[in-house]
Amino acid sequence: MARKLNKINRREFVKTGLALGVAAPVVSAVPAPTMIVPAEVKPVVVSDISSIRFKNGGEMSAVEKAFDLITKGVPVIDAVVEGVQIPENDPEESGIGYGGLPNAEGVVQLDSCCMDGVTKRAGGVAAIEGVRTPSVVAKAVMENTDHHLLVGDGAQSFARQMGVPVEPDLNTEKSRRLWLEWKRRIDPEHYLDPKTRADESYRAGLTMVADGLISEDHFWGTTNCDAINSAGEIAGVTTTSGLSFKIPGRTGDSPILGAGLYVDGDVGAAGSTGRGEANLYNLCSFFIVEKLREGMHPKDAGMEALRRVQANTVEKRLLNDRGLPAFGLRFFVLNKKGEYAGVSMWASGETTYGVCTENGAEEMPLEALLDGSPF
Ligand code: GLY
Repeated sequence: MARKLNKINRREFVKTGLALGVAAPVVSAVPAPTMIVPAEVKPVVVSDISSIRFKNGGEMSAVEKAFDLITKGVPVIDAVVEGVQIPENDPEESGIGYGGLPNAEGVVQLDSCCMDGVTKRAGGVAAIEGVRTPSVVAKAVMENTDHHLLVGDGAQSFARQMGVPVEPDLNTEKSRRLWLEWKRRIDPEHYLDPKTRADESYRAGLTMVADGLISEDHFWGTTNCDAINSAGEIAGVTTTSGLSFKIPGRTGDSPILGAGLYVDGDVGAAGSTGRGEANLYNLCSFFIVEKLREGMHPKDAGMEALRRVQANTVEKRLLNDRGLPAFGLRFFVLNKKGEYAGVSMWASGETTYGVCTENGAEEMPLEALLDGSPF
């Protein structure tokens, strides 16, 4: 069968030539020749563990669903958004969608964005209430507006106009019970100044992680899912309930392009879970995709971003007693060749990520920058 062919630029030509043991061409002012290489890649879907562990009582996880769809010819953007609706709808997944841990007032507020490397478009929603699947609304923003990000009541109103069901409350018994436990631990009425209240809120949440009531990955929530099909088309989506018990209105990295997600159809994709503010300050997904563009392997690009975050984490309150970042952060990275990696600030908490290929879904070890635990 004839294989599809495409063109690569001179940088790729030099790298490919070196990899094959072919001498690099002499540099000259003459425009570089283009080289014909096979265009087909092995389809793959990459995610954090939420998109491989949660099936909402069904047969398939998000990565399996997305893989199934891309191999049937469904556009990659549709496949990944269809996939993440499984954990979004799963009441046991307390870091995203329905049953996500609520904000300080007990209201579930969700964030999401998606980006399509084919159409080079993106959409997002932030602090949306009452919609189990914010990823669907993010895609609707992408497809039906000239905007990237709708927030709060406006996002909810838009969802309603698009026919997406809006419910009065997305709490489950589990999320409500954990919120009440957090309220008991913090008693915010006694902390009238906002800074003390915010510090105590965060501290109380971390004590619940330490006591095993909330897993560290669910404390910050989030699933990210990125995929490439055999034609080399790439897309990604990130969706979350965000930081547990957050100040109402707080959104993290997940709906922000370049932070929670970035896709360049000519280069690759990157997305994130973990402490959103650390990612926002460094726009890591954009940074990682730029490193892919320079030719870095997904693992090296992800590690470079983690080192950047570590170097930029200087506030004492964000450092543990060893002077290291006192939070988790993870990146899931996929390049145009179908190579991928999952990297983590710490070798603790969530230690695997999800991959689905023609061989099925499997959890792979995350590569960690730092040994031990952040706490
Ligand atoms: N990474 C999710 C958040 O911080 O909201």
